[in-house]
Amino acid sequence: MPLTFRHFRNFDPPALTRLWNARALAPGVACALRVHEFDAHAWGGVNFDARGLIVAELDGQVVGFVHAGFGPDYPIPALRPFELSHEVGAIVQLVVRPDLAETNLASELIQRGERYLRARGARVIYAGSLFPLNPFYWGVAGGSEGSGVTTQERAFARALAELGYEPVSTAILLEADLDRPEPRDPRAAVIRRQARVDFVDDSAPADWWEGVALGDFQVMRALLVSKSTGAIIGSAETWDMGWFSRRDDRARVGLIKLEVVPSERRKGHGRFLVAEMFRRLRENQIQIVAAQTASTNLPALGLYASLGFEPIDQSTLYRLPAEKLDRTIPGEP
Ligand SMILES: CC(C)(COP(=O)(O)OP(=O)(O)OC[C@H]1O[C@@H](n2cnc3c(N)ncnc32)[C@H](O)[C@@H]1OP(=O)(O)O)[C@@H](O)C(=O)NCCC(=O)NCCS
Repeated sequence: MPLTFRHFRNFDPPALTRLWNARALAPGVACALRVHEFDAHAWGGVNFDARGLIVAELDGQVVGFVHAGFGPDYPIPALRPFELSHEVGAIVQLVVRPDLAETNLASELIQRGERYLRARGARVIYAGSLFPLNPFYWGVAGGSEGSGVTTQERAFARALAELGYEPVSTAILLEADLDRPEPRDPRAAVIRRQARVDFVDDSAPADWWEGVALGDFQVMRALLVSKSTGAIIGSAETWDMGWFSRRDDRARVGLIKLEVVPSERRKGHGRFLVAEMFRRLRENQIQIVAAQTASTNLPALGLYASLGFEPIDQSTLYRLPAEKLDRTIPGEP
C-alpha cells in the first residue's frame, strides 16, 4: 500500500506520541512523553492549527509527521489577542519512523508543510524552532529554549539539504552539572557587598507566547539588584525541565533570559548572578542546568564556560532561499 498523507485528526495523539517516544534519546528532546502532555502542550494550544500538522500513513500505520506553524505577531501582548504573524513560517518538527529514515518520507512531509505555510501567506520559510518561531514545542524539544534542528535529527537535516534549505545560524546547547562545584570568582565578595539577588518563585510569563510555551512549568526569576540605588543590574529565569529529565533521572532546569544591563557588563555580574542561582537550585535538589546561546555570542559562551557549562549538542536554523519559495510540489494541483 502506498504512503498517504493527511491533516491531523483528533484521534492521532496516541500514535504520534508513540512515534515521538520511539526516537533515539537525544539531549535536546524530552522523552517518554504521555499523550495528555502532548495534547496539553503541542496539539491543543490556542495557536494550534490541525492543517499545519501533516501525518503520513503506511499500511494504516502512522509512520511520520511534520508540523508547520507561525510565530506571534509583534509586539507580543501579555494577554489576548493571540495573533500570529503569517508572513514568516517555520517547519518546526519532523518525526519519521526510524526504519524509514533513509527514504524520501522526510522530504515529502517537509514539502507538504511548505505548501501549508504558503497557503496561509508565508513569504519566508525557516526550518527549526528557534524563538520566536517556536510554536508548540518549546518545552518538549530543542533544549532549554527551543532551537534549530539538532545534530541527532539526521533525517530532518538531510531532507532539508536535499530540498535546498540553507543554514542561517547555529545554537550551542550546554549543560552544567551542579554536583560539581563551579570555579570561584574573586570578584564575588565585592559584588556581594554592593548587590543582592532577589528570587521570585512561580514568576508569571512575560506574554501569551511564553505562557503557551512554559505555562505548564514552574518558572523562577532572579534579579540582581543594587543595594545602594535599588536599580536592577541583571536578571535571568529558570524553568523546570522535568520532562527532559526522564532520560537520565537528573533533576534539570533551563536557564533563559539571562541579561546584564549594558553599562554593568564585564564586571563579573553575570557570573555572580548565575552562581547565586546555582546555590538556590542546589538547595532545591536540582542537579543539571541547561542553557543555550548562538554560536556567535562570545560573551555568553565565555560566561557559561567560566561557570563550568559544557556543550552537549548544537542545532541549526535553516531558511528556504526566496527563489525556491514558490516551487511546485509533485502531485500538487
Ligand atoms: C552574556 C552576559 C549576560 C554576560 O554578563 P557579564 O556580567 O558581562 O559577564 P561577566 O562580567 O560575569 O563575565 C564572566 C565571564 O564571561 C566571559 N565574558 C563576558 N563578557 C565577555 C565579552 N564581552 N567577551 C568575551 N568574554 C566575555 C568572560 O570569560 C568573563 O570572565 P572574565 O571577566 O574573568 O574574563 C552579557 O554580556 C549580556 O547581558 N549580554 C546580552 C544578553 C545575552 O546575550 N544573554 C545571553 C543569552 S543566552
